[in-house]
Amino acid sequence: MRPKITVIGAGYVGSTIAHFLASRELGDIVLLDIAEGIPQGKALDLYEASPVEGFDLKIKGTNSYANTANSDIVVITAGMPRKPGMSRDELVAINTKIVKDVSENIKKYSPKAIVIVVTNPLDAMVYAVWKVTGFVPNKVIGMAGVLDSARMRSFIAEELGVSVEDVTAFVMGGHGDTMIPVTRYANVGGIPLEDLLPKEKIDAIVARTQNGGAEIVNLLKTGSAYFAPAASVVAMVEAILKDKKRVMPVAAYLKGEYGVKGLFIGVPAVLGANGVERVLEVKLNDGERAAFAKTVESVKQLVRATGL
Ligand code: NAD
Ligand code: LAC
Repeated sequence: MRPKITVIGAGYVGSTIAHFLASRELGDIVLLDIAEGIPQGKALDLYEASPVEGFDLKIKGTNSYANTANSDIVVITAGMPRKPGMSRDELVAINTKIVKDVSENIKKYSPKAIVIVVTNPLDAMVYAVWKVTGFVPNKVIGMAGVLDSARMRSFIAEELGVSVEDVTAFVMGGHGDTMIPVTRYANVGGIPLEDLLPKEKIDAIVARTQNGGAEIVNLLKTGSAYFAPAASVVAMVEAILKDKKRVMPVAAYLKGEYGVKGLFIGVPAVLGANGVERVLEVKLNDGERAAFAKTVESVKQLVRATGL
């Protein structure tokens, strides 16, 4: 019996997630959207690639949540993306409404699912999903840190001319301007980054990482990134379905870790069959602690704006 994975929102991110899920043959896929024909057409097209790609899966596009029933994992990408000049925070009103409706349906049709939230503003939307579904918090996870860390790792690899596979780095905090690329823990093949690059180069990578989403929005003009976000989601799905105990930076519910309670904040966590199985508390220096406090405040304000 293959796992059942529902992707809600068949737009750029959702359909790319479906593509990566299928290519890795991770489970049967249901692609849902409110737009009639779009999920059905994209799902059929993806299924028709299967003889060429060699994956054996059921892939269904639908406008009905009944087809999503008893999903093992539900990924939420439904919502508006930002346009050039917009901040992720400006999406809070419209996307809270969408995410509330989606969450009520997930609660009804897949009460045992693990939910991965993508919709922005991510730190507030993952909170909204938790509040509306009422799911245990370890089964509600926000995807942002894996993406932001992937951007940081790719910029480091590009600067040093090394394989991306040998670059380890993670980003903590909110998925916005206050995100914290933690350079002190970054390394290349085990060698501390700070031994390999001068401060000004590292600072430039930090700034580019923090601006990573906007850089792509400004290039695309009509929407935001989707390849790297989708790949990041699928890495999380794989960690859960294969119980890999991967250490990944995700928006996880804090119960006192880092001195925070009752918020979803980007932190290193262990991902396995039960979702967020453990939050890892890394030691922060004074500067990192100050930045973390700032990002927590920013998330608090966003959550307040949801009205939940
Ligand atoms: P998109 O516009 O291409 O796709 C969004 C889809 O959601 C559309 O097909 C739309 O019809 C659908 N939708 C709207 N309301 C719905 C509802 N109530 N139920 C089901 N489907 C609904 O946008 P996108 O580029 O795929 O981005 C989707 C969201 O993901 C945006 O909010 C974007 O900001 C966010 N995003 C987050 C990250 C992250 O790192 N967390 C990265 C990329 C994108
Ligand atoms: C990004 C936005 C869309 O980081 O969240 O690409």
